[in-house]
Amino acid sequence: MIPDLPANIDQIKGFLAADEAQALYEQALQASVTGPVLEIGSYCGKSTIYLGLACKRNNSTVFALDHHRGSEEHQQGEFFHDPELYDDGEGIMDSFREFRRNIHQAGLDDTVVPVVAGSEVAARHWQTPLAMVFIDGGHSLDAALSDYRCWMPHLMRGGILAIHDLFADAHAGGQAPYAVYRMAQASGLFENLEQVSSLGLLRRL
Ligand SMILES: C[S@@+](CC[C@H](N)C(=O)[O-])C[C@H]1O[C@@H](n2cnc3c(N)ncnc32)[C@H](O)[C@@H]1O
Repeated sequence: MIPDLPANIDQIKGFLAADEAQALYEQALQASVTGPVLEIGSYCGKSTIYLGLACKRNNSTVFALDHHRGSEEHQQGEFFHDPELYDDGEGIMDSFREFRRNIHQAGLDDTVVPVVAGSEVAARHWQTPLAMVFIDGGHSLDAALSDYRCWMPHLMRGGILAIHDLFADAHAGGQAPYAVYRMAQASGLFENLEQVSSLGLLRRL
């Protein structure tokens, strides 16, 4: 049971299963005692709401990083394209309006700081140590590797690295997040916590 979870949470567009959302919330609730949380890939704010509700209880912050132009699979003609998130006037995908609406309705305007930018640009001058990093941005190997390399150095010792969309079987889903997860495990820099459905959780040593 998560206090203050919006009644319409299941109607919010997103890709997080209920058990993954619960695990994300619990990790963020512990981690955000020591510092802010950053997520890469907010989309319409579903995962942001779980992270935000946890951070709000500790008077902490979620940096919600997304350029809101969609990943490869959200573009027109691709499998996860949603015409409701397409700005016909500009001729481009735009999830930011929907994201803001959902965060506002969840009462998280004072907890969530949207960072509307590409992951590499946002990381360029980043200085703030992070208590938790949730990687759920682009799922190409280049994008997933870049997210790990850009943000892992900002993760505090004892901080949580969460990676979404882990599929050991290539028939079940793309392999890039799983490759990065395995790389982190092999690095010796993390303690394994658990995997909840497709969400992997590691703690930085
Ligand atoms: C799978 S969706 C995130 C889903 C969300 N975490 C949820 O649970 O509902 C991936 C998001 O990553 C964003 N994204 C992809 N590549 C990015 C990049 N290089 N920088 C910033 N955002 C990126 C896309 O715009 C998209 O909204």
